[in-house]
Amino acid sequence: MTTGQQPQGSEAQIAVHWREEGYFYPPAKFIGQANAADPAIRDRFAEDKFPECFKEYADLLSWDSYWHTTLDTSNPPFWKWFVGGRLNASFNCVDRHLARAGNKAALIWVPEPETDDPQAITYRELYRRVNEFAALLRDFAQLKTGDRVTFHLPMVPELPVSMLACARLGVVHSEVFGGFSGGACGDRIADSGSRVLVTMDGYFRGGELVDHKAKADEAVATARELGAEVDKVLVWRRHPGRYASKSPMVEGRDFFVDEVLADFRGSLVEPVSLPAEAPLFLMYTSGTTARPKGCQHSTGGYLAYVAGTSKYYQDIHPEDTYWCMADIGWITGHSYIVYGPLALGTTSVLYEGAPNYPDAGRPWRIAERLGVTIFHTAPTAIRMLRKLGPAEPAKYDIHFKHMTTVGEPIEPDVWRWYHESVGKGDAVVVDTWWQTENGGFLGATLPALEPMKPGSCGPGVLGIYPVINDENGDVVAAGSGKAGNICIRNPWPGIFQTIWGQPERFVQIYYEKYCRNPDSTDWRDWPYFAGDGAVQAADGYFRILGRVDDVINVAGHRLGTKELESASITVEEIAEAAAVPVLDELRGRAVEMYVALKPGFTPSTDIEQKVAKAIETHIGKIARPMHVWIVADMPKTRSGKIMRRVIAAISNFQQVGDTTTLSNPEIVDDIRHHVQAEKVARGETPRELTPQEAEEIKSFGHAE
Ligand code: WT7
Repeated sequence: MTTGQQPQGSEAQIAVHWREEGYFYPPAKFIGQANAADPAIRDRFAEDKFPECFKEYADLLSWDSYWHTTLDTSNPPFWKWFVGGRLNASFNCVDRHLARAGNKAALIWVPEPETDDPQAITYRELYRRVNEFAALLRDFAQLKTGDRVTFHLPMVPELPVSMLACARLGVVHSEVFGGFSGGACGDRIADSGSRVLVTMDGYFRGGELVDHKAKADEAVATARELGAEVDKVLVWRRHPGRYASKSPMVEGRDFFVDEVLADFRGSLVEPVSLPAEAPLFLMYTSGTTARPKGCQHSTGGYLAYVAGTSKYYQDIHPEDTYWCMADIGWITGHSYIVYGPLALGTTSVLYEGAPNYPDAGRPWRIAERLGVTIFHTAPTAIRMLRKLGPAEPAKYDIHFKHMTTVGEPIEPDVWRWYHESVGKGDAVVVDTWWQTENGGFLGATLPALEPMKPGSCGPGVLGIYPVINDENGDVVAAGSGKAGNICIRNPWPGIFQTIWGQPERFVQIYYEKYCRNPDSTDWRDWPYFAGDGAVQAADGYFRILGRVDDVINVAGHRLGTKELESASITVEEIAEAAAVPVLDELRGRAVEMYVALKPGFTPSTDIEQKVAKAIETHIGKIARPMHVWIVADMPKTRSGKIMRRVIAAISNFQQVGDTTTLSNPEIVDDIRHHVQAEKVARGETPRELTPQEAEEIKSFGHAE
């Protein structure tokens, strides 16, 4: 399908040119065993069955007491699900499987060094570890129901153990991605008001034993600057009894978990029966301001939603060996490594290290050895594995029945390699669109019932009714070829409850734009604004185009331009900074920083490096810019706003467009000359952009 509409003034109504891909159908073998194989399931979740349809998900859980109200809308948009119900997430993910499956592996942990064998942790063993650590958190760290605790843990079994121990007590965990800097961790400690930090001395990544504990000291110092005191740092050791970090332990503050646990051997902790609405965890994500948003997820609604979507969309059966290669430091890992799979009593694989270590055959060797049946990863990993080892999957005896992709749009070409080479043409591919805020999938195909279409995530999932709105709130029709803002018309159990400590921003960012009547308690008046551009084909499938806010999606991770910019201006020479996306072959997008210096300073590579370093310190290595360009001045509007779209165009070798509204149009040629000459010299000219990509760059940053 090719359409020729011109932009119609409003930004969301951009013309979209894309070739409609053909369908791929699931193999009969898959359909025969699928959890959702009866087309009637669509009727059970039809709009006229909302919200009661979600009882089917809640009934996958064990409740201490059943709820009386499925959905309470009395205080919109702070929806309450399964009101009156009580349950415990740790009980649901561990205890209730003991009788039937106590000796089955709950987790299989694969250490990065290939000479180390994978370790299976049975449900019984998980039960033991969770209980002992819960006892330690309660009696040694003095944590109570409702307290927050920050984790800065890598991909080790101690992470799910720590999560489930908190869940047992009703303590709200907040895991910060292990690759984030100590400073970023400290910000999140302060924001969440955690008194306890749980970390690890080191972990293996890319063949190195990383000194991780050093980041804990930075985190505590940053939190202190922000007025938050951490009184205990609990340090798991990668090799119990052997300390791997150079950073000294602080007397009275830092404790080795393996030593303290000696006092809790065999302890059992009764799971605390919590209201469905009790918060289970916080997960921080980036948005339009420098302050990260702590997305607060509930116990009952969240767990029901991830269990339901794991069953029907991941097609998890208890006998599967399921491997999601994401990091638990992101929402994907929380929902689809830990809570969803364990709620269903399956075996979930956890891999410590880099997917390409020691080579691009590693994931396939792991899958072969463990007999993985369901595989789950992101386009950025698929692109990298394809680039480094296109013929690798064929060398291994791997047989996936189901493969997921998540996190960013997947190019049809990359999709086809995944399907043909990794899936050997025999697996269903499920492209799942959702966000940190959502708890679980929003758009995807039901694997046995709805055909796949490369490059499209599919229709709204069961019980999710999406719509595309234009800037005025009018519906953009399916098949019109026009893009707009994708919204979800209804609440669902997995939606986050609020932004921790910022309820007004929660309402403003996600609901204000399309709210039809702020006084209404009817959910129909409160569509959820996802912040993504999308287009819906005539068959109802959605193609997600990317963020419409100031967020850059690097390798599936959201980085806020404001966070990057405020990190840059911590460098004393920097007066102003602007972050823009550039196309990147493997990561989808990468970051380039433009900075202007304060008077009296002269440009130098030293300053460029300081900016890159500051970003690494404040956010983490993943945010490290491709380039830092020092410019004499930023292109600005007459009202003084930096026009990010102009520099984004320069970085991507696009037309800069209309610059007549600039207060300093003469600067544009200087910047272009400088930046593009340098890029050409380094061989960094990009491939031709697709019309969608060109549109993204053209409209980046909004300021006009
Ligand atoms: C943003 C959310 C929730 C999982 C990991 C990312 C983009 C996510 C897809 C997909 C196209 C996607 C969107 C979204 N995104 N999945 N299948 N196709 N785009 O979570 O960090 O909260 O990022 O990632 O732009 O808004 P996140």
